[in-house]
Amino acid sequence: MNNTKIYAYGFPQEYFYTSILEEESIKAEILNKDQILNLKNDNNDTSVFCLYCSAFEDNIIDFLTLFSNTFITNPIVIIGENYSQSYLENLFELHPFTYIKLPADKNTIIKELQKAKEGKCFFIPKPNYKAQFDKAKANLVACHEGSTALTAEKDIEKLLDLILTKTRHLAKADAGSLYLKEGDNHLRFVLTQNISTDWSGKKDILLEIKENSISDYTAKISKPFNLLDVHSISKSFPFTYNISFDKNTGYRTKSMVTMPMFNNNGEVLGVIQLINKRKDYDQRVPGKKLDEDQIIPFDIKDIEFLDDLASQAAIALENAKLYQDIRHMFEGFVKASIVAIEAKDPVTHGHSERVAELTVAMAKTINDINEGPFANIHFTDKDLLQIRYASLLHDFGKVSVNEEVLTKSKKLFPFELENLKSRYKFIRKSIENDYYKDCLDYINTNGIEKYNEAKAGLEEAFQKKLKEIDETIEILIKSNEPTVLEESCSDRIEKLSHSVYKDKEGQETPYLTERESTALSIKRGSLSESERLEIESHVKHSYEFIVRIPWTKDLSRVPEIAYAHHEKLNGRGYPNHKVAENIPIESQIMGITDIFDALTAQDRPYKPALPLQKALNILNMDADNNALNKDLVNLFESKEVYKCLDEKPIE
Ligand SMILES: [Fe+2]
Repeated sequence: MNNTKIYAYGFPQEYFYTSILEEESIKAEILNKDQILNLKNDNNDTSVFCLYCSAFEDNIIDFLTLFSNTFITNPIVIIGENYSQSYLENLFELHPFTYIKLPADKNTIIKELQKAKEGKCFFIPKPNYKAQFDKAKANLVACHEGSTALTAEKDIEKLLDLILTKTRHLAKADAGSLYLKEGDNHLRFVLTQNISTDWSGKKDILLEIKENSISDYTAKISKPFNLLDVHSISKSFPFTYNISFDKNTGYRTKSMVTMPMFNNNGEVLGVIQLINKRKDYDQRVPGKKLDEDQIIPFDIKDIEFLDDLASQAAIALENAKLYQDIRHMFEGFVKASIVAIEAKDPVTHGHSERVAELTVAMAKTINDINEGPFANIHFTDKDLLQIRYASLLHDFGKVSVNEEVLTKSKKLFPFELENLKSRYKFIRKSIENDYYKDCLDYINTNGIEKYNEAKAGLEEAFQKKLKEIDETIEILIKSNEPTVLEESCSDRIEKLSHSVYKDKEGQETPYLTERESTALSIKRGSLSESERLEIESHVKHSYEFIVRIPWTKDLSRVPEIAYAHHEKLNGRGYPNHKVAENIPIESQIMGITDIFDALTAQDRPYKPALPLQKALNILNMDADNNALNKDLVNLFESKEVYKCLDEKPIE
């Protein structure tokens, strides 16, 4: 041990210390920070390190890295007042070391340094290679599992929670916070977790990056920090810790690590801050106050693993953001598609969004049920998204349907009704003209006296004709309504289509054109057979449009689900007349929500909105006729799924 060198670091220039370090039996080499860090190139495996406590008030990461990589078994003597031997054992678990708590006299310090030279430190590690190997292996496994889990999560909110949970778990930290960088000058405080209190939860506080907080400074200089005790942060740092927080809450914040999250380009995406490494982490009881004597410093291995995991987290975060951006872009495209449908068919404004809300709400309701016909059906978040897109786009094919047919509220198109009315106005005028002409002819032929005698009869016949024509137009207007056609009206339409009047040119013309009589003869609703088929073709058009979108694997069934939204369990639906077992459950749900919204929507011109109970009665009738799934209708009614629209008004 005669060649043993003593290196001293961090001591104040005071006589008390210089006289010790210059003592003949000690003769320490006093180094500054750069010199001590450069020692790795001049490895002396018999050297002893004598450190003053200020060395630990600094960012000790470089320092610890040096000891853990180079001077693995060299003894250390630490002189200070803020810590204890046991608190520091976690930092120097492989080094023999002695902690001399100040105040201490000169002789004590010299004695302990001499003892250290002879290898007699207060703490002598008892290497348990198996335990060390097991610990390293466990950390590696945890790190690998953590990184796998992070890569798999695409939901940003869940990912942030996972990042903090995994890193906290790996470093056995009692608490932690997560910050995301926004632009060059801001950090957003997004999340906090704390085992021993109930403070965990989402946050949303935008903070301008200054240098006076630890997380800000970490983001600013892009370096991790390991602080042994935030209550005694070195004056050499620009940041401080607000101790009043601990005073007010009774929570003791002590050891702390802040780790920047770097992406592949070396840019900082955020900062992970871990607080209070726990000696008793494996026995932790959530909500139970943390004893200060259970807090230990974060060690160099924590930093190494955290560094790895933080980089994985940053990449996962960037991927998730990219995924979210693509999703937002796609949502924008879907919304634009809905705008296109609604521009063509404004009366169904909000229909697609409402059907999406209702269908997803139904699927979530099924997820909550553990018995009965839906016990084994579960929709994942990806399934729910698939249902949402299928619902939003289910009617997109309406853009291919003739606009007049789509918005047709009466049997005749408005311009057809106007034609009909002007024709009957002309016919009425013709009757008047004919009457006055007949009167004049009568006077010319029979003289005024005879005319006066016949006048009442002529007048009566004239009024009868007028009444008849007024009744006819009334019946035609009534028949034009989409309600059930009365038989008397049907007979009158039939007769009129075979009767003629003389037009302006004196040509014999039917009272009703063939097209008018066919339209007005529709027994129920406003659509002729060909128009009904045209409207029904929207399902096929929707499918042809949706199937062209290169859906990801998770969303690959969107076209299939949308395609079957008008199929009925009894095979009487369209376009493929599928029966129950061939109709996806998602389409069966959408079949119900689609009808419900069509019945209750306030803005359909061809029928008034139905009260809730009437709409539910119609759904039940359809279920009794095996058109809709009875269990689903019961669920829709009993769980009042329709109320989701009240909770979240559709724009
Ligand atoms: Fe539809």
